[in-house]
Amino acid sequence: MNMGTAMLEDYLKTVSVIVEDWFSKNLTSDDAHADKLYEAMKYSLLAGGKRLRPALLLAGYNIFDKSELNSEHPALFAAAAVEMLHTYSLIHDDLPGMDSDELRRGRPTNHIVYGEWAAILAGDGLLTEAFNVLLTGELPADRLIKVAIVVSSACGARGMVAGQFVDMQSQGVLIGEVSMETLNYIHIRKTAMFISAAIQAGGILAGAENSDIARLKEYGDKLGLAFQIADDILDVTSTTEQLGKPAGSDEKLDKLTYPKMFGLDVSKSIMNDLLISATEQLVDYGARAAILQEVVAFVGGRRV
Ligand code: IPE
Ligand code: IPE
Ligand code: MG
Ligand code: MG
Ligand code: MG
Repeated sequence: MNMGTAMLEDYLKTVSVIVEDWFSKNLTSDDAHADKLYEAMKYSLLAGGKRLRPALLLAGYNIFDKSELNSEHPALFAAAAVEMLHTYSLIHDDLPGMDSDELRRGRPTNHIVYGEWAAILAGDGLLTEAFNVLLTGELPADRLIKVAIVVSSACGARGMVAGQFVDMQSQGVLIGEVSMETLNYIHIRKTAMFISAAIQAGGILAGAENSDIARLKEYGDKLGLAFQIADDILDVTSTTEQLGKPAGSDEKLDKLTYPKMFGLDVSKSIMNDLLISATEQLVDYGARAAILQEVVAFVGGRRV
């Protein structure tokens, strides 16, 4: 972990423990026919991962409500739901018809272990159940509905799915024939909108004012784009062992990435500028946003 992120390190560890515990208790099949399906869903869900989106949701919540970070946290169900959605997106992203990657979170990808149709359905199961989890949570119904709208907008055909679609469509494009607008279209939709939605969801569930949600959105949009630029950079500069997923995957598929369009140095400086403006959104929250401040430092120095 990097300098200035010691508190976040502990926070992420605790989030991992309580979210995994939630999955073990709540994500079980009703009948033996579905045992294998649940096994495949949990294989990817419990394979590790940084648990950044649930952490962002809970940290966003805790700006406005001091609930302790433990298995009784009132927004834990929503944190679990966003990790289910994220894990679905990874399973599908790795499929042979998409990025065709064989390693994820340090383990063989879902389709390598369970086969392609089972991996598709494990992803479908996680995606759909995530909304069931979200909408049956024990918080006021108007907040749940708002969160479902924000999250489904971020992950659906105006968000992640569109980003993934254009990401696939843009493999092999020549730099002279594509604009930065297309690159940002992909990165904002496939990654940034969901990260931003997770943070906003925390605020919404805690009953924050609209002006606060707008500020969390600004922070999340910038952090999320920086996060995907960091992911692109690491694909070039890191190793498979360090990442737990294949390094060099983007180059192999000739993906439209920040390093492809701008090179590493310019990519890093664009990322750093985004992180600085993310930080600026948090100033008024002071120590209540300490975790969100450390996330900025973490993304800036990301190794995984
Ligand atoms: C990977 O996300 C996919 C992207 C959006 C770049 P993470 O880097 O958060 O993956 P895990 O959850 O830690 O495995
Ligand atoms: C994937 O982007 C984003 C989503 C899963 C929605 P990448 O294809 O760059 O993610 P990695 O590098 O495989 O984790
Ligand atoms: Mg991809
Ligand atoms: Mg990929
Ligand atoms: Mg990547």
